[in-house]
Amino acid sequence: MQKFLDVVAEEVKEAFEAAGYDRELGKVSVSNRPDLCEYQCNGAMAGAKQYHKAPIMIAQDVAAKLEGSKAFSEVAAVAPGFLNLKIKSEFLYDYLNQMKATEKFGTIVEENPKKIIIDYGGPNVAKPLHVGHLRSAIIGESIKRICRYNGNEVIGDIHLGDWGLQMGLIIYELSLRKPELPYFDESFTGEYPAEAPFTISELEEIYPTASGKSKEDEAYKAKAMEATFKLQNGDKGYRALWHHIINVSVSDLKKNYERLHVDFDLWNGESSVHDRIPGMVERLKKEGYAYTSEDALVVDVKEETDTKEIPPCMILKSDGAALYTTTDIATIEERMEDMNPDEIIYVVDKRQELHFDQVFRCVRKTGMVKPETKLVFHGFGTMNGKDGKPFKTREGGVMRLEYLINEINEEMFKKISENKSMDEAEARKTAEIVALSAVKYGDLSNVAAKDYIFDIDRFTSFEGDTGPYLLYTLVRIKSILNKYAEQGGNVDAVSLAPVENESVKDLLKSLCSFNTMMQAAYEEIAPHRICAYIYELANGFNHFYHETKILTEEDATKKETYIAVLKLTKEIMETCIDLLGFEAPDRM
Ligand code: ARG
Repeated sequence: MQKFLDVVAEEVKEAFEAAGYDRELGKVSVSNRPDLCEYQCNGAMAGAKQYHKAPIMIAQDVAAKLEGSKAFSEVAAVAPGFLNLKIKSEFLYDYLNQMKATEKFGTIVEENPKKIIIDYGGPNVAKPLHVGHLRSAIIGESIKRICRYNGNEVIGDIHLGDWGLQMGLIIYELSLRKPELPYFDESFTGEYPAEAPFTISELEEIYPTASGKSKEDEAYKAKAMEATFKLQNGDKGYRALWHHIINVSVSDLKKNYERLHVDFDLWNGESSVHDRIPGMVERLKKEGYAYTSEDALVVDVKEETDTKEIPPCMILKSDGAALYTTTDIATIEERMEDMNPDEIIYVVDKRQELHFDQVFRCVRKTGMVKPETKLVFHGFGTMNGKDGKPFKTREGGVMRLEYLINEINEEMFKKISENKSMDEAEARKTAEIVALSAVKYGDLSNVAAKDYIFDIDRFTSFEGDTGPYLLYTLVRIKSILNKYAEQGGNVDAVSLAPVENESVKDLLKSLCSFNTMMQAAYEEIAPHRICAYIYELANGFNHFYHETKILTEEDATKKETYIAVLKLTKEIMETCIDLLGFEAPDRM
């Protein structure tokens, strides 16, 4: 469906043409002086040079042609040459009726759907999820939903960190604690136990301990590196132990992501590509891309146009071990072979930009991706505490995601419990739903690349630009619709007939810009656009609600139209919050 402003511009373009000017001058935008007009056209200013005429004269010519317009109730040519426009309500209602009848409210979906892989989440096995992983999960999930809504085939891949030194650290530490386990007995030939020799809490304690020791003790670190190497080279016992680590960790991760309403189509990891690394390395060497430098194997990726130093891409360390870069390169090779995507989007901390720059250059240079495949690094900023420093626990440690979520749920529960009509169970459940909106909206409403301050008090507030405010508004709309039904109205049958009412107009105009906003959110990979949009919708609705009697309106046509506007607002808001990755309760 055509975008609203394009439809509005149609008549203005015709007027330019009828007055003897280029019709392309008739572009219309939302007014930047809402106190003076609703929409504006600056085409007369742009055309002044071409037609050697004062812009105001052109504007006056065009305004004269717009007399008796279908779209505008007021057209004014004002100095130095603007056209100030006021839209007719009928025109808005007409567009909204078309939107209602169109799939996805007129969203302009991809004509040639793309296959897009989104690499997000990226948790590290055996390390607890921390707030750093929260952003990737929240942003990636929303991008996935936006790309899908726009008609693409989208595959979300978690890309687990499951192959590096952290695995060697855990294995070595375990070998010290439980040397009697068969995994460490090289002469063992039986079946390894099906049960893991640790729980998730033990695992989560082992890793930081081991990591701490390795930083202080060179010999310990060497042993852990040796264990990593043995694991990567197929040691039977280590592999079996590694499977236990993955299984225990992944089932815990699944629980955590479920709470966040985040889900992945693929649970691949760095390890998934291990078997293809030797072949890949051979090919890179044979084709002359990779060479040995200071015992390591590298590929040069610098380019003549570089303004900063881009170091070579390291493929193998001097001890022959694969690195983070290696697995990312091999993963692209595998994705191209298995899925042949048109685009891969990485949602990762922006501090990893150089890494991805190197990886992307390397796979392009070596021909592992087809030239048309887009590789996108969508880096996000740091989540900071109120002190402006990376978010920490009160004690100054790394905040575990689980604890953070519990804390917000608790905060929300306190607020929701003020509503005395809810029993505890309902209040708990509602609190979880609303808390998720607080966290996700607090994150997504910022431009992803920017750092932002995680402020529980502000995010959980029912007022202002927050998730809870939006849900509160949505709940209010639902309750009006329910009451209408209780009074015997049929919400599904209401129709939108034009009524004059200034207080509903802002809301109508916002509704009309849904597909414009969706296109921008999709093309710019920008969930924050959806946030700004629903905030505008919510404000538009609340203004209308405070100014107008809805359920007590006596004029039946008016009442029905108001209900129909509310219903459409509700549906669009629900679509938007679903794209952001949260939902609304029935009451709160
Ligand atoms: N596991 C990594 C980390 O915690 C993030 C993975 C990002 N994705 C990727 N394909 N490298 O930093």
